[in-house]
Amino acid sequence: MKTIIERMVHRAKVHEIPGSHAAEDSIAFEAVVDGEVVGRVEASHRERTIVIQQLEVLPTMRRRGIGRKLVRAILNKSQLLSVDRACVTTGGNEGFWALQGFRPSCDDQTDQYPQCLMTRTVPPIVPANPFR
Ligand SMILES: CC(C)(COP(=O)(O)OP(=O)(O)OC[C@H]1O[C@@H](n2cnc3c(N)ncnc32)[C@H](O)[C@@H]1OP(=O)(O)O)[C@@H](O)C(=O)NCCC(=O)NCCS
Repeated sequence: MKTIIERMVHRAKVHEIPGSHAAEDSIAFEAVVDGEVVGRVEASHRERTIVIQQLEVLPTMRRRGIGRKLVRAILNKSQLLSVDRACVTTGGNEGFWALQGFRPSCDDQTDQYPQCLMTRTVPPIVPANPFR
């Protein structure tokens, strides 16, 4: 039987924060459960790279899939922006980022974005086949 918290997380809604494009290249999403904000992610994009600057889930709501939902929301948005690379600037929780497909940056990438610690590709949106 599912616990109350598992049912709450199932209802967690992730949406883009209105006005988060105020600084043209910035994006933010928040996760809400029963009207309460339980997590937030912020990123900015330059050229074809999105840089995730901040991701935080309330301590009482961690390890329930909310961080993963927030990262997925940023990656989905990145596809719409024709971004092909995502990187994360803040240290710690490398295990979490590895599970989201991020790998330690290599030297040529850190030259361009010295703050990037881990990076991954963002696959392009595959257009639907009109002949199917
Ligand atoms: C890192 C953080 C955002 C993860 O959020 P979360 O909601 O607990 O993560 P999820 O429940 O979506 O975890 C997704 C997967 O990562 C794993 N995971 C979560 N935190 C992890 C960690 N610190 N180390 C290793 N694995 C981790 C989960 O077990 C889960 O694994 P699964 O796919 O096999 O089930 C959260 O711990 C946090 O807010 N930490 C403080 C702020 C911070 O350090 N942010 C990151 C740098 S910006």
